[in-house]
Amino acid sequence: MIAINKIAEMQLFSYQQKVDGKKIAVVPTMGYLHEGHISLIKEAKKHADIVITTLFVNPTQFAPNEDLEKYPRDYQSDFKKAEEAGADILFCPDELEMYPIGYNSTILVRGVTDKFEGVKRPTHFSGVATIVAKLLNATLANITIFGQKDFQQTLLIKRLVKDLNFPVEIIIAPTIRESDGLAMSSRNTYLSKESRAIASSLFHALEEAKVAIGKGERQRKIINSIMIKTIRAKQQFQIDYVAAADAETLDEPDEFLAGDKIVLLLAVYLGKTRLIDNAVVKIPSSLNESNF
Ligand code: PAF
Repeated sequence: MIAINKIAEMQLFSYQQKVDGKKIAVVPTMGYLHEGHISLIKEAKKHADIVITTLFVNPTQFAPNEDLEKYPRDYQSDFKKAEEAGADILFCPDELEMYPIGYNSTILVRGVTDKFEGVKRPTHFSGVATIVAKLLNATLANITIFGQKDFQQTLLIKRLVKDLNFPVEIIIAPTIRESDGLAMSSRNTYLSKESRAIASSLFHALEEAKVAIGKGERQRKIINSIMIKTIRAKQQFQIDYVAAADAETLDEPDEFLAGDKIVLLLAVYLGKTRLIDNAVVKIPSSLNESNF
């Protein structure tokens, strides 16, 4: 694997690969790679000849009160992990390369960003949309892979790619979890031992809601209250939002219907650490169909 840190060099490399008929996949990351990222790189390998992992802690998606400064970083370990997972290129520009003096453009994707994370973190998604667009332009990728863990981000990327006509195929890969169910995240390293021990309650909350839906529960408020009850059983959690919503539009009808695809979304604070998780559930269209 080689590291590239200039956009022009990255574009030239990708252009040459494409002239040679090679297919390129990009896995955008902010580094501090864990098994979730590794699974994305391995998935990318199955679909492309060349896999680029990007490593850039994007300042524009952090609000001033968020954790940009303390966001975990470990370049040596990331290089090793990306290489072992099979990446061909580590694209790791610095801040000035991505946002040079005079930089003055931002992409705003409306609709899917109007709720949940978009409300709690009002500047976050324009930062994500802008950097993802820049990374797609820098890597000239044919395919890009994201984890389902950041569910609303995946909706944003789909909208961005469609609206701005990026010639790229999007693959969404499943969330990778620790053995107790906690969704893998670079931010899990912030958790104290005590917080880590109860963090898997989020996964249990999602599972309990899934079971209830499987048994026929369709009332949105009841589904939400099942998740809230499980989370509140541990006093250390402070709920930011808990929601069952349509998995494509994020609408919140009073009652879900047969054939609906629902996303269960959670965001909580555990101490100062903010954790998010989600699960997607399809309500069977007929009694014979089971999707749980
Ligand atoms: O999901 C992330 O790690 C980031 O939001 C992304 C997509 C790499 C953009 O900085």
